Amino acid sequence: MVPALQINKVSKDFGRIIALRNVSFVVQPGEFVSILGRNGAGKTTLLNIISGISRPSSGTVQLSGTDPSDRINKAKLAVISHEMFLYGNLTALENLEYYGQVYNIKNMEQRIEQVLRDVELTHRRFDLVATYSRGMTQRLTIARALLHKPLLLLLDEPFTGLDQHAVGMLTALLKALKDQGRTILLTTHDLHTASTLSERYLILEKHSIIQDGSMADTSPDEIREKYFSAKRMKEEK
Ligand SMILES: Nc1ncnc2c1ncn2[C@@H]1O[C@H](COP(=O)(O)OP(=O)(O)OP(=O)(O)O)[C@@H](O)[C@H]1O
Ligand SMILES: [Mg+2]
Repeated sequence: MVPALQINKVSKDFGRIIALRNVSFVVQPGEFVSILGRNGAGKTTLLNIISGISRPSSGTVQLSGTDPSDRINKAKLAVISHEMFLYGNLTALENLEYYGQVYNIKNMEQRIEQVLRDVELTHRRFDLVATYSRGMTQRLTIARALLHKPLLLLLDEPFTGLDQHAVGMLTALLKALKDQGRTILLTTHDLHTASTLSERYLILEKHSIIQDGSMADTSPDEIREKYFSAKRMKEEK
């Protein structure tokens, strides 16, 4: 089986700030991986490098065996982060139509209807995005990202700003995407959500992966214990 994603000795520096150091791992198609780690550990930097937004200082990223800057592979990828990639002076519908054209989506009207229903924004589709609440904007970001049925999803703390109902909605949506065989990488500080959704976790600490484990074998409390004990060990050095 060709891996969905291969990260090979990726390092990233911002001037004298080290963000990632020698990070390597492989993700198989259909895997759901949670990336854990405290603020500044390098999670967002890693997702940005995978999506091609940022370039590694050294090392390589391969998506299904090819380069992420390859446009065709890029079209199979979706990023959900705090960068909205939405136009405030357009309505939700206009935003989705714009992206539908960019991605050259077939049966665009039906697909837009579907994603709006998925995130429960159908009733607000004619409103300007600038007038949306933060959680609504986040939901539209999710709809936009799913529009072209991506095979690889990169989610950077997607639950931030969502109310309890919307958290449930997104959790169900992610479970459905996983059942459809999509490959998903998620960063979160919520160990409970991570353990509900994903089968594997990676812990990033001080720019490197210090744990790569199976969720099935580890409870959130054990992960917390591993995470914090690893943190203590490093701090004691
Ligand atoms: N554009 C940038 N310029 C300079 N330094 C940066 C830049 N982006 C990230 N960094 C630095 O790289 C390190 C990793 O940051 P990153 O945003 O990847 O962390 P994170 O794990 O996503 O943290 P958080 O949990 O707070 O989102 C930090 O020290 C950060 O200050
Ligand atoms: Mg981050």
